[in-house]
Amino acid sequence: MTTALTSPDAQVEVGRAPALELRGVHREHGRGASRVQALRGVDLVVRAGELVAVMGPSGSGKSTLLALAGGLDAPTSGEVLVAGTTLSGQSPRALAALRRRALGYVFQNLNLIPALTAVENVMLPRELDGISARAARREARAALAEVGVADLADRFPDDMSGGQQQRVAIARALVGPRGLVLADEPTGALDSHTGEAVLRVLRARCDAGSAGLLVTHEARHAAWADRVIFLRDGLVVDSTGTPATPESLLGAPAPFPADGARGDATASPAPDGPNPGWDESRGSYEIDESDESEESDEFGESGESGGSRR
Ligand SMILES: Nc1ncnc2c1ncn2[C@@H]1O[C@H](COP(=O)(O)OP(=O)(O)OP(=O)(O)O)[C@@H](O)[C@H]1O
Ligand SMILES: [Mg+2]
Repeated sequence: MTTALTSPDAQVEVGRAPALELRGVHREHGRGASRVQALRGVDLVVRAGELVAVMGPSGSGKSTLLALAGGLDAPTSGEVLVAGTTLSGQSPRALAALRRRALGYVFQNLNLIPALTAVENVMLPRELDGISARAARREARAALAEVGVADLADRFPDDMSGGQQQRVAIARALVGPRGLVLADEPTGALDSHTGEAVLRVLRARCDAGSAGLLVTHEARHAAWADRVIFLRDGLVVDSTGTPATPESLLGAPAPFPADGARGDATASPAPDGPNPGWDESRGSYEIDESDESEESDEFGESGESGGSRR
């Protein structure tokens, strides 16, 4: 049975397949002595409307998890389902179409195409998907404006700063209707103010019905998520928040406005207020002391990628 939620903002339908599901996912690289177990049995469900943050030390398997979720890599064993479709066994063509239509992916190393301008980079997935160049360009300009780089539309990646390139990459992941947005440290090269603006955009997308998986080293960015999972040595070792269920979604408070304006007095440990579902049980998701100090920073004080531990 499918029951539409009453909140028009949520646009979530209870009873649908999750936007993303990992079942007993293992990923090994190499053989023999050089064998690396990047993931060792991960189960995860992310539903439409949810933003889930992934934290963990370098090498814990965060990027591997995202690559598997995005169909860029295949598990050694276990299953990955996107919108109820199992990725294993799909033809490369079907996988590519799924990635273009259903998924937005912000790579840790951006992967912008240097020979294309910003707007061309952003419109590419939509054009490949068969929509007219004119419509694709319009959508791409809107996505660039959403992340604050509309004026850079005709610039090439090499002529932009790292933070500007990162925002173009985010626009490319958000352009068009994407049910699942996967972002691997999307704020790594951004100053804290811009990073927060990007998180607002991602949060708003999820409030409008997309599902999001966000890898971050910064606790204050994870505070925008509904849940945080912690990876260590390829395993989920802890999580905060409660996975969404039909019951919890129906009982959830209305999401905050898409522009992120929040004048309410919602108690929260994040400087500008994280998601509306924040509760006390989530006050302890830092994984070490450096995260605690990051979280107490005011936005705008810590400078570029101040919290990255890489
Ligand atoms: N193609 C590969 N071949 C061999 N080992 C790999 C490969 N990709 C990842 N690994 C290993 O798998 C483990 C997990 O890597 P992954 O990139 O997922 O970590 P991460 O949590 O994203 O780290 P970081 O925070 O540094 O980005 C690491 O030990 C890494 O060296
Ligand atoms: Mg990584």
